[in-house]
Amino acid sequence: MSFFSKIFTKQSKEEVKMNTMNIGIILGSTRQGRVSPQVGEWVKGIADKRGDANYEIIDIAEFQLPFMGTTDGTEPGITAWNDKLASLDGFVFVVAEYNHSISGALKNALDLAREAWNNKAAGIVSYGSTGGARAAEHLRGIMGELMIADVRTHPTLSLFTDFENGSVLKPQELHLDNVNLMLDQVIAWSGALKTLR
Ligand SMILES: Cc1cc2nc3c(=O)[nH]c(=O)nc-3n(C[C@H](O)[C@H](O)[C@H](O)COP(=O)(O)O)c2cc1C
Repeated sequence: MSFFSKIFTKQSKEEVKMNTMNIGIILGSTRQGRVSPQVGEWVKGIADKRGDANYEIIDIAEFQLPFMGTTDGTEPGITAWNDKLASLDGFVFVVAEYNHSISGALKNALDLAREAWNNKAAGIVSYGSTGGARAAEHLRGIMGELMIADVRTHPTLSLFTDFENGSVLKPQELHLDNVNLMLDQVIAWSGALKTLR
Protein backbone atom coordinates (compact mmCIF):
# COMPACT_ATOMS: atom_id res chain seq x y z
CA MET A 1 0.00 0.00 0.00
CA SER A 2 1.32 3.43 -0.96
CA PHE A 3 2.06 6.13 1.57
CA PHE A 4 -0.88 8.14 0.15
CA SER A 5 -3.44 5.36 0.54
CA LYS A 6 -2.12 4.49 4.00
CA ILE A 7 -2.85 8.03 5.10
CA PHE A 8 -6.13 8.58 3.29
CA THR A 9 -7.88 5.22 3.09
CA LYS A 10 -6.94 3.19 6.11
CA GLN A 11 -8.41 4.11 9.46
CA SER A 12 -6.09 3.81 12.43
CA LYS A 13 -7.20 1.62 15.33
CA GLU A 14 -7.83 4.82 17.27
CA GLU A 15 -10.09 6.17 14.51
CA VAL A 16 -12.03 2.92 14.31
CA LYS A 17 -12.58 3.07 18.07
CA MET A 18 -13.65 6.72 17.88
CA ASN A 19 -16.05 6.03 15.01
CA THR A 20 -17.66 3.06 16.72
CA MET A 21 -20.80 4.12 18.51
CA ASN A 22 -21.17 3.76 22.26
CA ILE A 23 -24.49 2.36 23.37
CA GLY A 24 -25.41 2.28 27.06
CA ILE A 25 -27.66 -0.46 28.39
CA ILE A 26 -29.22 1.36 31.33
CA LEU A 27 -30.50 -0.72 34.25
CA GLY A 28 -33.77 0.93 35.23
CA SER A 29 -34.15 -0.41 38.76
CA THR A 30 -31.97 -0.15 41.85
CA ARG A 31 -33.77 -2.12 44.58
CA GLN A 32 -32.04 -4.94 46.48
CA GLY A 33 -32.87 -8.25 44.83
CA ARG A 34 -33.69 -6.59 41.48
CA VAL A 35 -33.70 -8.63 38.29
CA SER A 36 -32.61 -5.80 35.96
CA PRO A 37 -28.91 -6.89 35.97
CA GLN A 38 -29.96 -10.29 34.56
CA VAL A 39 -31.98 -8.61 31.81
CA GLY A 40 -29.17 -6.16 31.06
CA GLU A 41 -26.55 -8.93 30.81
CA TRP A 42 -28.83 -10.92 28.51
CA VAL A 43 -29.29 -7.91 26.20
CA LYS A 44 -25.54 -7.21 26.28
CA GLY A 45 -24.78 -10.84 25.38
CA ILE A 46 -26.96 -10.54 22.28
CA ALA A 47 -25.60 -7.08 21.44
CA ASP A 48 -21.92 -8.00 21.78
CA LYS A 49 -22.32 -10.79 19.20
CA ARG A 50 -23.27 -8.16 16.59
CA GLY A 51 -19.90 -6.35 16.67
CA ASP A 52 -21.51 -3.11 15.47
CA ALA A 53 -21.01 -0.88 18.55
CA ASN A 54 -19.44 -0.68 21.99
CA TYR A 55 -22.16 -1.85 24.34
CA GLU A 56 -21.84 -1.07 28.04
CA ILE A 57 -24.05 -1.78 31.03
CA ILE A 58 -24.82 1.42 32.92
CA ASP A 59 -26.01 0.84 36.48
CA ILE A 60 -27.82 3.85 37.95
CA ALA A 61 -27.19 2.44 41.45
CA GLU A 62 -23.43 2.91 41.08
CA PHE A 63 -23.80 6.68 40.74
CA GLN A 64 -25.52 7.11 44.11
CA LEU A 65 -27.64 9.90 42.73
CA PRO A 66 -29.40 12.08 45.31
CA PHE A 67 -33.10 12.61 44.96
CA MET A 68 -33.64 15.54 42.60
CA GLY A 69 -33.78 18.87 44.45
CA THR A 70 -32.81 17.57 47.89
CA THR A 71 -29.21 18.78 47.61
CA ASP A 72 -27.40 21.66 45.91
CA GLY A 73 -26.74 19.40 42.93
CA THR A 74 -22.93 19.45 43.17
CA GLU A 75 -22.50 15.77 44.13
CA PRO A 76 -19.78 14.04 42.09
CA GLY A 77 -22.33 11.33 41.24
CA ILE A 78 -24.46 13.81 39.29
CA THR A 79 -21.41 15.02 37.36
CA ALA A 80 -20.27 11.45 36.71
CA TRP A 81 -23.78 10.50 35.56
CA ASN A 82 -23.90 13.40 33.09
CA ASP A 83 -20.36 12.68 31.87
CA LYS A 84 -21.22 9.03 31.30
CA LEU A 85 -24.38 9.90 29.38
CA ALA A 86 -22.48 12.48 27.33
CA SER A 87 -20.05 9.76 26.23
CA LEU A 88 -22.88 7.65 24.81
CA ASP A 89 -24.49 7.83 21.36
CA GLY A 90 -27.59 5.81 22.18
CA PHE A 91 -29.33 3.86 24.90
CA VAL A 92 -31.22 0.69 25.64
CA PHE A 93 -33.42 1.15 28.69
CA VAL A 94 -34.03 -1.97 30.76
CA VAL A 95 -37.38 -1.05 32.25
CA ALA A 96 -39.15 -2.66 35.21
CA GLU A 97 -42.81 -1.85 35.73
CA TYR A 98 -43.55 -0.26 39.11
CA ASN A 99 -47.18 0.74 39.69
CA HIS A 100 -47.87 0.90 35.97
CA SER A 101 -44.89 3.19 35.36
CA ILE A 102 -41.09 3.27 35.49
CA SER A 103 -39.26 3.08 38.82
CA GLY A 104 -38.69 6.25 40.80
CA ALA A 105 -34.94 5.63 40.51
CA LEU A 106 -35.09 5.71 36.72
CA LYS A 107 -37.29 8.81 36.67
CA ASN A 108 -34.86 10.57 39.03
CA ALA A 109 -31.90 9.57 36.85
CA LEU A 110 -33.72 10.85 33.75
CA ASP A 111 -34.47 14.15 35.49
CA LEU A 112 -30.86 14.64 36.62
CA ALA A 113 -29.55 15.20 33.09
CA ARG A 114 -30.76 17.17 30.13
CA GLU A 115 -28.37 18.01 27.26
CA ALA A 116 -26.63 14.66 27.66
CA TRP A 117 -29.87 12.94 26.57
CA ASN A 118 -30.69 15.24 23.65
CA ASN A 119 -30.58 14.09 20.01
CA LYS A 120 -29.81 10.46 20.78
CA ALA A 121 -31.75 7.27 20.08
CA ALA A 122 -33.07 4.68 22.48
CA GLY A 123 -34.73 1.31 22.58
CA ILE A 124 -36.64 -0.28 25.44
CA VAL A 125 -36.59 -3.80 26.85
CA SER A 126 -39.24 -4.02 29.54
CA TYR A 127 -40.61 -6.63 31.90
CA GLY A 128 -43.54 -7.07 34.24
CA SER A 129 -46.80 -8.97 34.56
CA THR A 130 -47.85 -7.60 31.15
CA GLY A 131 -44.31 -7.29 29.79
CA GLY A 132 -43.82 -3.88 31.38
CA ALA A 133 -45.76 -2.34 28.50
CA ARG A 134 -47.41 0.38 30.60
CA ALA A 135 -44.07 1.50 32.07
CA ALA A 136 -42.51 1.54 28.60
CA GLU A 137 -45.28 3.78 27.26
CA HIS A 138 -44.71 6.24 30.12
CA LEU A 139 -41.01 6.25 29.31
CA ARG A 140 -41.77 7.10 25.68
CA GLY A 141 -43.59 10.26 26.83
CA ILE A 142 -40.62 11.29 28.97
CA MET A 143 -38.22 10.63 26.11
CA GLY A 144 -40.15 13.03 23.90
CA GLU A 145 -39.42 15.84 26.35
CA LEU A 146 -35.75 14.86 26.60
CA MET A 147 -35.41 14.76 22.79
CA ILE A 148 -34.52 11.08 22.79
CA ALA A 149 -35.75 9.33 19.65
CA ASP A 150 -37.38 6.08 20.79
CA VAL A 151 -37.41 3.26 18.26
CA ARG A 152 -40.48 1.19 17.48
CA THR A 153 -39.40 -2.38 18.23
CA HIS A 154 -39.80 -3.15 21.91
CA PRO A 155 -39.10 -6.59 23.40
CA THR A 156 -41.43 -7.27 26.34
CA LEU A 157 -40.59 -9.97 28.88
CA SER A 158 -43.31 -11.56 30.98
CA LEU A 159 -42.61 -12.20 34.65
CA PHE A 160 -44.72 -15.36 34.23
CA THR A 161 -43.32 -16.94 31.07
CA ASP A 162 -39.82 -15.45 30.72
CA PHE A 163 -38.73 -15.80 34.35
CA GLU A 164 -38.74 -18.76 36.72
CA ASN A 165 -40.56 -17.83 39.93
CA GLY A 166 -40.57 -14.24 38.66
CA SER A 167 -36.91 -13.97 39.57
CA VAL A 168 -34.65 -16.05 37.31
CA LEU A 169 -34.54 -14.92 33.70
CA LYS A 170 -35.28 -17.72 31.20
CA PRO A 171 -36.33 -15.77 28.12
CA GLN A 172 -38.31 -17.47 25.39
CA GLU A 173 -36.54 -17.90 22.05
CA LEU A 174 -38.92 -15.53 20.27
CA HIS A 175 -37.39 -12.48 21.98
CA LEU A 176 -34.01 -12.90 20.30
CA ASP A 177 -35.16 -11.56 16.91
CA ASN A 178 -36.94 -8.67 18.60
CA VAL A 179 -33.86 -7.62 20.56
CA ASN A 180 -31.78 -7.68 17.38
CA LEU A 181 -34.40 -5.72 15.45
CA MET A 182 -34.59 -3.14 18.24
CA LEU A 183 -30.76 -2.85 18.18
CA ASP A 184 -30.78 -2.47 14.37
CA GLN A 185 -33.07 0.53 14.83
CA VAL A 186 -31.09 2.02 17.73
CA ILE A 187 -27.83 1.77 15.74
CA ALA A 188 -29.38 3.31 12.61
CA TRP A 189 -30.94 6.23 14.46
CA SER A 190 -27.93 6.76 16.74
CA GLY A 191 -25.76 7.11 13.64
CA ALA A 192 -28.20 9.50 12.00
CA LEU A 193 -28.57 11.66 15.11
CA LYS A 194 -24.81 11.90 15.61
CA THR A 195 -24.80 14.24 12.62
CA LEU A 196 -27.01 16.68 14.55
CA ARG A 197 -24.74 16.95 17.57
C1 LIG B 1 -43.24 -1.03 44.09
C2 LIG B 1 -43.52 -2.06 43.04
C3 LIG B 1 -44.61 -1.91 42.22
C4 LIG B 1 -44.87 -2.85 41.22
N1 LIG B 1 -45.91 -2.64 40.36
C5 LIG B 1 -46.05 -3.45 39.29
C6 LIG B 1 -47.01 -3.15 38.31
O1 LIG B 1 -47.74 -2.18 38.37
N2 LIG B 1 -47.10 -3.97 37.24
C7 LIG B 1 -46.29 -5.06 37.09
O2 LIG B 1 -46.40 -5.74 36.08
N3 LIG B 1 -45.38 -5.38 38.03
C8 LIG B 1 -45.24 -4.60 39.12
N4 LIG B 1 -44.30 -4.89 40.07
C9 LIG B 1 -43.52 -6.11 39.93
C10 LIG B 1 -42.19 -5.79 39.26
O3 LIG B 1 -42.35 -5.57 37.87
C11 LIG B 1 -41.21 -6.94 39.50
O4 LIG B 1 -41.01 -7.06 40.90
C12 LIG B 1 -39.88 -6.71 38.82
O5 LIG B 1 -39.03 -7.78 39.12
C13 LIG B 1 -39.27 -5.40 39.28
O6 LIG B 1 -38.06 -5.18 38.62
P1 LIG B 1 -36.69 -5.27 39.44
O7 LIG B 1 -36.60 -6.69 39.98
O8 LIG B 1 -35.62 -5.03 38.41
O9 LIG B 1 -36.72 -4.26 40.52
C14 LIG B 1 -44.03 -3.99 41.08
C15 LIG B 1 -42.96 -4.14 41.95
C16 LIG B 1 -42.67 -3.19 42.90
C17 LIG B 1 -41.46 -3.35 43.79
